[in-house]
Amino acid sequence: MAGLCNADVHRASAESSREIRLRIDGISTFYGEAQALKDVSLRVHPREIVAILGSNGAGKSTLLKTVAGLLSPQKGKIVLDGEPIEGRPAHEVIRKGIACVPEGRELFGSLTVRENLELGTYSLPKSMRKKVQSERLEMIFSLFAVLKRRLKQKAETLSGGEQQMLAMGRALMADPKLLATDEPSLGLAPMLVAEMMSTLRHICDEWGVSLLLVEQNARAALKIADYVYVLERGKVVLEGTREEVIASPTIQAAYMGG
Ligand SMILES: Nc1ncnc2c1ncn2[C@@H]1O[C@H](COP(=O)(O)OP(=O)(O)O)[C@@H](O)[C@H]1O
Ligand SMILES: [Mg+2]
Repeated sequence: MAGLCNADVHRASAESSREIRLRIDGISTFYGEAQALKDVSLRVHPREIVAILGSNGAGKSTLLKTVAGLLSPQKGKIVLDGEPIEGRPAHEVIRKGIACVPEGRELFGSLTVRENLELGTYSLPKSMRKKVQSERLEMIFSLFAVLKRRLKQKAETLSGGEQQMLAMGRALMADPKLLATDEPSLGLAPMLVAEMMSTLRHICDEWGVSLLLVEQNARAALKIADYVYVLERGKVVLEGTREEVIASPTIQAAYMGG
């Protein structure tokens, strides 16, 4: 691995004294015979934004789906707050504290904005849902005011940017410890991309959520990420702090347009 050695050493020594929210150790995920992830390891600390960068087909979505319990790794460990969760089904992973905003957002177009948001709490015990729903809705409106104005509208009538906000809001309704989002900038106008990134930073800093941010848009992700992993053909080929990765010639050439 073309790792950044100083960072690795520094991080390893800091880790023993620092809580780890999500630990992924050597996971390999296959589609039939085809191996899409090869021995991928990473760490996410509380309130940290960890970006997963890489070009199309690198394995970013596969990584996110494996973390979310939508795919099962053939080997390796996924540990959330000390508890192994690899191979658990998605509905259990949500209950453990990982909420996922998948590629394509997967909203229910014919349901209203309110109904889509309320679906985000389905993993909670029934007795808690009503109370949590009203509290969480207010928190989500404080992030995405437009959703409050659109509550009765069908999700399919929203703009692309609004749908992304709704998908994010629905994931946050589950009160996750870790939010995993797949290309939140995709299809958004540049101004909305910047807004989305600063909202994500706010969620981590103010709500205490950790973020696993999968992005092809390296420039946008590097504005807010604390730590970065670069995937190529299913493998981690580079990792480091935001500053280290921005300074890396490989990243400049491959992902930042020179
Ligand atoms: N459902 C699938 N069946 C078979 N191969 C897949 C499937 N989804 C993705 N792949 C393959 O796995 C690799 C990684 O894909 P993906 O994780 O979607 O990459 P990224 O999100 O970085 O663009 C690619 O080679 C892709 O063709
Ligand atoms: Mg993808």
